Amino acid sequence: MIAEIFEQNFQKPAEIFWQAPGRVNLIGEHTDYNQGFVLPMAIEKRTVVAIGRNERSIHRIYSANTEELIEHPAPIGNLEISGWARYPLGVLKLLEISDQGLDIAISSDVPIGGGLSSSAALECSVGAGVNKLLELDNEKLELAKICQRAENEVVGAPTGNMDQIASLFGKADNAVFIDCRSEEIQLVDLGFEKAGLEIVVIDTRTSHKLDDGDYGNRRDECYSAADKLGIHSLRDLNEQHLEGVQSQLTATEFKRARHIVTENQRVLKAVQAVREQEYFTFGKLMTESHSSMRDDFEISTAELDQAVEASLQSGALGARMTGGGFGGSGIALIESQNIPQLTDSVLEAFKQRGFKTPEIFAVKPSCGAREIKGTN
Ligand code: GLA
Repeated sequence: MIAEIFEQNFQKPAEIFWQAPGRVNLIGEHTDYNQGFVLPMAIEKRTVVAIGRNERSIHRIYSANTEELIEHPAPIGNLEISGWARYPLGVLKLLEISDQGLDIAISSDVPIGGGLSSSAALECSVGAGVNKLLELDNEKLELAKICQRAENEVVGAPTGNMDQIASLFGKADNAVFIDCRSEEIQLVDLGFEKAGLEIVVIDTRTSHKLDDGDYGNRRDECYSAADKLGIHSLRDLNEQHLEGVQSQLTATEFKRARHIVTENQRVLKAVQAVREQEYFTFGKLMTESHSSMRDDFEISTAELDQAVEASLQSGALGARMTGGGFGGSGIALIESQNIPQLTDSVLEAFKQRGFKTPEIFAVKPSCGAREIKGTN
């Protein structure tokens, strides 16, 4: 229990408890930083935090996952540390807390590096909890941007804002449809439960990092394509224009642009499909999205492709990798009764190919960050 973990480390009770979830992205990958559309949902796996003020100008942050206590003077100037503590300290820095020292205990069941936004869950739980405790009055969208900036500016991962918005705005049974240009956020009722459907995560347990260059390279290629075409972002390109601009781009830039353009269209179609309860169409769009990430954006891996293939063979309506790529998790939309078959066939396929044993579990669309009791 987070309350006890806090007391053991700081010898006093915490003042506030908060939680923020991880997410799976149903469709719309690498479109967020191209000002496009995304459709993530928050999941029940989450990070919980207990927070209290201390009498010293020192932040003390304890992680129950790594069993480490990190200390840093407040206010935070330059952050010369590595590892997980950069995320919470980055958020404290950008919340511009003066010399009020904070004690924070953290515990998370979001798989680290599994492509399920363990980092956003960490940033948002700390950000939202501190925001409430110190009455900083940042609105949720403002908070999402502060958490994103912590990841961009402090951690050095050039990510978009999908994960933080999903973690803060998620709602049970709903997906979060985000227009990353207008920043309009709409909840979309998924109706999965009524339809007897579930989202299954296949965590390939292959490392997925956002600050090691590959993710940033994709972002640079997209920006360079937009630059050459004289447009503000790839959001401004549509399918009709795409063929006409091929000669202005390198072959790689063209493929990246094609992924973004077609992926934006797929998100819009997916939102419409789910609103009309056309789940087969929704699933087909998910699978098409995977092919586009594999062939045009080139961010999939042998494990993710295998997870998708085995899921489809087990009757999934659709399957795709989720998140930044280069490892992490795949997801499948499948009827509940077919989950055992999917599990068996993915495990068998992974074994045959000599891959690590994946973690396979169903997730439900869940609520976003919120205050909790310390007994959670
Ligand atoms: C990571 C980033 C997001 C987004 C996805 C890809 O999860 O944090 O901002 O770019 O990758 O869609």
